Amino acid sequence: MSTDLIQPHGGKLVDCCGATEMSTAPAVAITLTPRQQCDLEMIAIGAMSPLDGFMGEADCNSVCEKMALTNGVLWPIPITCAVDQATADKVSVGDKVSLNDDKNRLLGYLNVSEKFTQDKKMQAVHAFGTDDAAHPGVQVLMEEGDTCLAGKIEVVTTRHDPMFSAHRLSPKQMRETFTKKGWHTVSAFQTRNPIHRAHEYLTKCAQEMTDGLLIHPLMGATKDGDIPAEVRMKCYEVIIEKYYHPDHTMLAVMPAAMRYAGPREAILHAILRQNYGCSHIIIGRDHAGVGQYYGTFDAQRIFDDIPEGSLKIVPLKFEHAAWSKTAGGMVSGKTFPKIEGDQIFLSGTKVREMLVKGERPPIEFTRPEVADILIDSMKNA
Ligand code: ADX
Repeated sequence: MSTDLIQPHGGKLVDCCGATEMSTAPAVAITLTPRQQCDLEMIAIGAMSPLDGFMGEADCNSVCEKMALTNGVLWPIPITCAVDQATADKVSVGDKVSLNDDKNRLLGYLNVSEKFTQDKKMQAVHAFGTDDAAHPGVQVLMEEGDTCLAGKIEVVTTRHDPMFSAHRLSPKQMRETFTKKGWHTVSAFQTRNPIHRAHEYLTKCAQEMTDGLLIHPLMGATKDGDIPAEVRMKCYEVIIEKYYHPDHTMLAVMPAAMRYAGPREAILHAILRQNYGCSHIIIGRDHAGVGQYYGTFDAQRIFDDIPEGSLKIVPLKFEHAAWSKTAGGMVSGKTFPKIEGDQIFLSGTKVREMLVKGERPPIEFTRPEVADILIDSMKNA
């Protein structure tokens, strides 16, 4: 691995893959929730380094209260394995339990080193900034079991039916690819949406500053109403083919779950991309936000509050970007003054309405090739 690339978070990439299936299965098997399956995969492949398992109570509390693991390493959101009471009652500390997917196929094992009752309200308030059960991330937390099992994991198979396997690179594979391409600095672009013109503007500004751009959509569990992964993938492929430079652009998927935790999730997204070998990450307006829970630039400000040196990846912060009719191009709050009625702004609801009717949003908002894929997907929905 090239020493040129940024160091993984905590210094070393974790690898929990490669375990073999036990000839005698453990007495207890846990069916992981969609979010836990994503977390298991992210930990196993080293994307969540230095985590090598699900957190215990001390780490969970420390992460909430101090935004760091008990060993002092920056970490913003608890990564836990909650189970229902009936399952919890069957498990003792020291047990090895099977971890299964939602179709009851074996993924791996958890060596249970701790069992604790989680304080959901405390976690919600710290990690999400709200305990409102209407928040989609808080809702997942509130609906899961009260008991968490903690310990190191050993993974046999990260996924039985992985989507987009050609684009599902582990941090190790991604780093090898960057090295092969001769990229020393890479900007990561996190997204859970199709790429609109504002996204394209951010990614191209970033591209001017680093050797490569990694378009790295989050493809794990998302909330109802978000655009499905297969549809988004088609949009990414077409826009990259038509409008990006192949020598400086790469597409890969990130199998993480979305938590919608705004600022704290921006820090998590940065840590994950540092592990994948990226030197920079784009953080625009309301990064990883949902509804009205976070201020427009809270997810940028949080990077100013973390201890110096606790994160190596550099956030590239962008103001709100949109097409200006007067300037005749994409602008941001930093590059062109705001003039009443000048910028092309369409709400998510408005865009959806247009697409459902089979209408393309203006070309200044969405590339027509992307619009057509979205229109088509809505016809078949
Ligand atoms: S996110 O949940 O992944 O953050 P989204 O896919 O909408 O949502 O955004 C991807 C990235 O682009 C985020 O960093 C977000 O802040 C940024 N972004 C989206 N739209 C704009 C915009 N109009 N201006 C500036 N930044 C934006």
